[in-house]
Amino acid sequence: MGILKAEGLKKYFGEVHAVDGVSLEIKDGEFVSVVGPNGSGKTTLVNLISGALLPDSGVIYFEGRNITKLPAHQRVKLGIGRSFQIPMVYEFLSSLDNILVSILSRNGHSRIFHRTVDKFEGARKEAMELLKIFSIPLKLVAELPHGHRKLLDVAMALALQPRLVLLDEPTSGISLEERDQVMGTIAEVLKERKIAAVIVEHDMDIVAEYSDRILVMHDGKILKEGGKEVLEDEEVRRILIGD
Ligand SMILES: Nc1ncnc2c1ncn2[C@@H]1O[C@H](COP(=O)(O)OP(=O)(O)OP(=O)(O)O)[C@@H](O)[C@H]1O
Ligand SMILES: [Mg+2]
Repeated sequence: MGILKAEGLKKYFGEVHAVDGVSLEIKDGEFVSVVGPNGSGKTTLVNLISGALLPDSGVIYFEGRNITKLPAHQRVKLGIGRSFQIPMVYEFLSSLDNILVSILSRNGHSRIFHRTVDKFEGARKEAMELLKIFSIPLKLVAELPHGHRKLLDVAMALALQPRLVLLDEPTSGISLEERDQVMGTIAEVLKERKIAAVIVEHDMDIVAEYSDRILVMHDGKILKEGGKEVLEDEEVRRILIGD
């Protein structure tokens, strides 16, 4: 059964038809990549699913529940996590504390001071494990290079224990040599934890290697979808080369 289903999603910004009638279904644990040229509507689509934007029309169901009008923070509670094209991390906290914020917010952050030391230690252990999985050093975020910040953003999304995670260009700004390993680690963690993913990615080698399914967006619409063979499609190649 699909964990996420969207029908007829539209989001216009004035004359710009950013998302223009998108329907899609994501299966449990499925790794779906969204590709397409700049401005084709990928981030807008992610924003509609996360609740950062509300659609002009269309419906979104998550685990059978209509979430079309639900605000973003409530979608997080239901199990939709996300990372950002530009990492949203707290500059003046350490990498560890950033992840701790996510973990502790899972069950209501305001109650942190009533927690026992044991529970806090559990959260700390969990945060340390995520740092280790992604090889993120324990440092002030302001001192971390871009690549590590991107990963921290992904780790924070995973710390919320989502059922579905939306990752907007998780490997952008990460060096070519490191990209494959980074996505390999992300893919492994997602499989292990049975988390479905919608990933916006510009590196077609990565897309071909890790995706269960690929959605090609063009002018706010899904032009093609399928396995990695869609990347060989004549029309898809033509629009992606313009990228
Ligand atoms: N808040 C906004 N206000 C006005 N126009 C917007 C807004 N957000 C996006 N757009 C426009 O909508 C279209 C789709 O943008 P979107 O950011 O979704 O594309 P994208 O596929 O993520 O591009 P990129 O690959 O560059 O990240 C673009 O023409 C963009 O300029
Ligand atoms: Mg984008």
